[in-house]
Amino acid sequence: MARFLVTGGAGYVGSHAVLALVERGDEVVVIDDLRQGHREAIPPGVELIVADLADRRRLGEVFAAWKFDGILHFAALSLVAESMRQPLRYMAENVSNTLWLAEEAVRARCLRFVLSSTAALFGYPAGEPMHEGSRLDPVSAYGESKLMAERGLEWADRVHGLRSASLRYFNAAGADPQGRLGEDHNPETHLIPLAINAALGLGPELTVFGTDYDTPDGTCIRDYVHVTDLVDAHLRVLDVLGQDRSARYNVGNGNGYSVRQVIEAVERAGGRPVPWRSGPRRPGDPAMLVASNTLLRRDTGWEPGHSSLADIVRTAWDWRSRHPHGYRA
Ligand code: UFG
Repeated sequence: MARFLVTGGAGYVGSHAVLALVERGDEVVVIDDLRQGHREAIPPGVELIVADLADRRRLGEVFAAWKFDGILHFAALSLVAESMRQPLRYMAENVSNTLWLAEEAVRARCLRFVLSSTAALFGYPAGEPMHEGSRLDPVSAYGESKLMAERGLEWADRVHGLRSASLRYFNAAGADPQGRLGEDHNPETHLIPLAINAALGLGPELTVFGTDYDTPDGTCIRDYVHVTDLVDAHLRVLDVLGQDRSARYNVGNGNGYSVRQVIEAVERAGGRPVPWRSGPRRPGDPAMLVASNTLLRRDTGWEPGHSSLADIVRTAWDWRSRHPHGYRA
């Protein structure tokens, strides 16, 4: 049994990770300020510390109270569009929270650290799948903040031996296959939950941001990765970290689906139409963003077993239709 500190453990991906760690017998301490997270998403027996990561005194107390075998750092501001309205806040908060957390970890000699990074590091790619050596050229303050955080962690490895894995998430989606957890953002900005809400009559009709892209059906192509597979990537990198140097991995299923294909998948899963209309392109959206996941598979044996579009949409539909108001219900 090991003990992990999970920041943002009450949030969407973080809560799925907490549940997976608890299920494999690990002890978990969560820090979450509950701005986006939900207390109801924390399993019984897990210590929840409601605190802002910027509160360094509180963070120091947490490291003094427990000895951790590793840190999973999910907590962050993560909306691309918002980051273009508040770039300095995004960079200040995401970078400083990561680096002070790493500093506390080093001080406590807890030398395994997993960072939730993002495919937004790649900017506007040329079309082919992104691999770890692809050019990094963020076009949003959010992407830039994660790139700076990754770079800080590289220095923490060089100087202090802090072994980190930066996991560049492509489009995290879906819900716990047993229906215990799901995606509940406020405001919701992601395609799959918005399409489901539109079909269930829980939200307005979906606006498709651009139907004139240079793609087969004119809509953007993304790599949707099931949250269960994404969490599995975290557990696997934790197991290999420490044996080796720090690493960066793209975490996507390797297949792209267009916005129209997602809409059709939601209609098949729910057996009802998704009301939608065409809208203008959303600034900052690349036409296509798909991962090469070869490195992660090779180093950790990871397989995206839940990431067919049908499985992703079915689990998301099941959770939302049983929790129409999210965790508030
Ligand atoms: N989309 C719509 N209408 C909507 C919402 C989204 O057409 O109402 C489209 C977007 O234009 C995009 C696709 O659906 O083509 C997916 O959009 P999301 O907002 O669901 O996700 P993003 O690809 O914009 O961003 C996600 C994460 C980011 C991360 C990025 C990396 O939210 O944090 O993936 O790939 F940086």
